[in-house]
Amino acid sequence: MRFASLRRRIRALDRRLREARVLARAFRYPWQPVVAQIIPTRRCNLSCTYCNEYDRVSEPIPLDAMRRRIDRLADLGTGIITLSGGEPLLHPDVAELIRHIRRRGAVATLITNGYLLSPALIERLNASGLDSLQISIDNVLPDEVSKKSLTLLDQKLRWLAWYAAFDVTVNAVLGGMRDPEDVLIIARRARDLGFQCTVGIIHDDRGQLQPLTEQEQGVLRQVAALERPVLSFDRYNRFQDALARAEPYNWRCRAGSRYLYVCEDGLVHYCSQQRGSPGLPLGQYTADDLRREQASIKACAPYCTIGCVHRVAMIDELREAPAETLESWFVHSGSASGMPLPVRALLGVFVTGPTRTLARRAAGRLLGA
Ligand SMILES: C[S@@+](CC[C@H](N)C(=O)[O-])C[C@H]1O[C@@H](n2cnc3c(N)ncnc32)[C@H](O)[C@@H]1O
Ligand code: SF4
Ligand code: SF4
Repeated sequence: MRFASLRRRIRALDRRLREARVLARAFRYPWQPVVAQIIPTRRCNLSCTYCNEYDRVSEPIPLDAMRRRIDRLADLGTGIITLSGGEPLLHPDVAELIRHIRRRGAVATLITNGYLLSPALIERLNASGLDSLQISIDNVLPDEVSKKSLTLLDQKLRWLAWYAAFDVTVNAVLGGMRDPEDVLIIARRARDLGFQCTVGIIHDDRGQLQPLTEQEQGVLRQVAALERPVLSFDRYNRFQDALARAEPYNWRCRAGSRYLYVCEDGLVHYCSQQRGSPGLPLGQYTADDLRREQASIKACAPYCTIGCVHRVAMIDELREAPAETLESWFVHSGSASGMPLPVRALLGVFVTGPTRTLARRAAGRLLGA
């Protein structure tokens, strides 16, 4: 096994433990933020035609202002803080931002188009304590829609496989590309290198579904059938099945509470596609705001394709009806053997077993929740 791969596995143990703590706190406190995405710069070095989240001119947000935002998110109890953009690697202090997120006890993740990655930068990200990185790759060859292309980024993937001590996920946008089968090639390449792969169904400028073609639906099914770890939220994508068929999906969006989007001006929005709601300064965002948004109904939910907010909402589904939720996930994923043994064991210990109260209390203590 390569040294980086071994190092990645060892660091993954520590990250898994901290993620378990995030989960335990999310179960304990129903309105605390689980994930916050923050924007260190709106600027991007690319211009994907499906994207409304970048410009060509913005300056990086000063380090002190970013540190204050991270501090505020940590004070609100945020478990996972993700740097996005624009292109976050254009920020000159990106490593220090990650270090600060870790210093404040949150899991640190980053979403990038990968263009600026080099062995030296990957080592700096390792040293900063980055927990996981999502690299976006949409097609095999660059075209007018996206230049996040396997042929251009494969060297970056190889460097990541070689040097990264953090977890790597490849995300591909599905919908509106010249050849949807590219997504399958990208997913297989990710898997061959030992990375996770997620698919984001393309959305319009309000986060709403752009219906998929038959061929795109087929690709989504094939990617979903690829092997994934049992204890990974990426594996359970029931929402994507409904949306792929252009059907509404019945769920409760917890944006503004469990998920926060903090723009370059330091304002809290539901998500990248609902900027302006609620649009309040992070410094003045309080527990009352979190509680209000936990309960608020979002009219845009039934056709929303924004995967990260869906996945955060799954924690509350699990919290509110654990046995039913788990069953629905596994029935949906068509697992021939039903619920896998580790999940059945966890269900027995924490939900249905006679010593569940004791087990929950012990786990909560152990994980500091
Ligand atoms: C806005 S980008 C910012 C980070 C970085 N520039 C990148 O491309 O990874 C974050 C993610 O949103 C995805 N994205 C942007 N516009 C989208 C859309 N209309 N539909 C689906 N995903 C989209 C990108 O592909 C990327 O994975
Ligand atoms: S690279 Fe990311 S931020 Fe830049 S245009 Fe593409 S999706 Fe948008
Ligand atoms: S449902 Fe939630 S995540 Fe989706 S667009 Fe609306 S506010 Fe954003």
